[in-house]
Amino acid sequence: MAVRRQAASGRRPRRAAQSRPAAPRRPAPVPAVPEARAAPAPAARRAAVPARPKVTCATLQEHKHAHRPIVMVTAYDYPFASIVDAAGVDVILVGDSLGMVVLGFETTLPVTVRHILHHLQAVMRARPRALVVADMPFMSFQVSPRQAVRNAGRMLQEGGAEAVKLEGGERVLPMVESIARADIPVLGHLGLTPQSVHRLGGYRVQGRTAEARTRLRREARQLQDAGCFGIVLEAIPAPLAAEISAALSIPTIGIGAGAGCDGQVLVLHDLLALHDGPMPRFVQRFANLGDAARAGVEAFAAAVRSGRYPRPEHEYGS
Ligand code: KIV
Repeated sequence: MAVRRQAASGRRPRRAAQSRPAAPRRPAPVPAVPEARAAPAPAARRAAVPARPKVTCATLQEHKHAHRPIVMVTAYDYPFASIVDAAGVDVILVGDSLGMVVLGFETTLPVTVRHILHHLQAVMRARPRALVVADMPFMSFQVSPRQAVRNAGRMLQEGGAEAVKLEGGERVLPMVESIARADIPVLGHLGLTPQSVHRLGGYRVQGRTAEARTRLRREARQLQDAGCFGIVLEAIPAPLAAEISAALSIPTIGIGAGAGCDGQVLVLHDLLALHDGPMPRFVQRFANLGDAARAGVEAFAAAVRSGRYPRPEHEYGS
């Protein structure tokens, strides 16, 4: 639509090129990034992916039994949901980490149900094959089981999620039970639970004492019994995570919990290095999109300022 408006209003003057009469009228073109030029439209990209069956909670259970590692990443918008789904991940988490990596908050605490719904709806427009899990943000479930069911229901009804995740152990068991009783699949989350950052005194590795390890083992079992279809284990010692994973019949998905879990999850913006700043020890940067994006925009700015962009092939005639 923007293209049509611009075409209708006529050609814009080529200021930079006209102000340098001694220079050739058309300087050398800016080399285009081949992948960018060839990139198909999102719909075409989806169509090119070989058909895979829809991932469900039952699929994850099968992966555990077959010892096939489960792959989960976060995504918060349509383009990245399309990309991670085309990459073949099993689970897309619309995590409340969006508060930090997308919205710029210091913690996840300011994230609301409305924030999650907004991003979840964008993710669902990509129609992922992956199972889509919506995070229950701070204060969306802690008040009562009734509040938890209502907000979990909104994630499915208004957002299109296929499951929800909530943080906590013993104290959230009544909420997990109520949500599961409402036929809403629930993913648990134990260990470092970022919504408890103030109680925990920072983002620290959990399960360091014998007492803490005993509590985590017990809570993992309780979450399974309460109806969770899986549990995220965050920032706990690898031997403990392996022990819990072996003891449970439901899959565990680790983040900073070692290779003994049934699957792994990372925040997309961490694994793609889409932001600066210190990273936890468990993050590996599998690509550097932050630097690539900065270089791309710098190239655009330089091309505009030197008159090398736009060129005739980018223009509409009258
Ligand atoms: O919000 C989030 O992204 C998460 C993952 C790190 C598990 O909870």
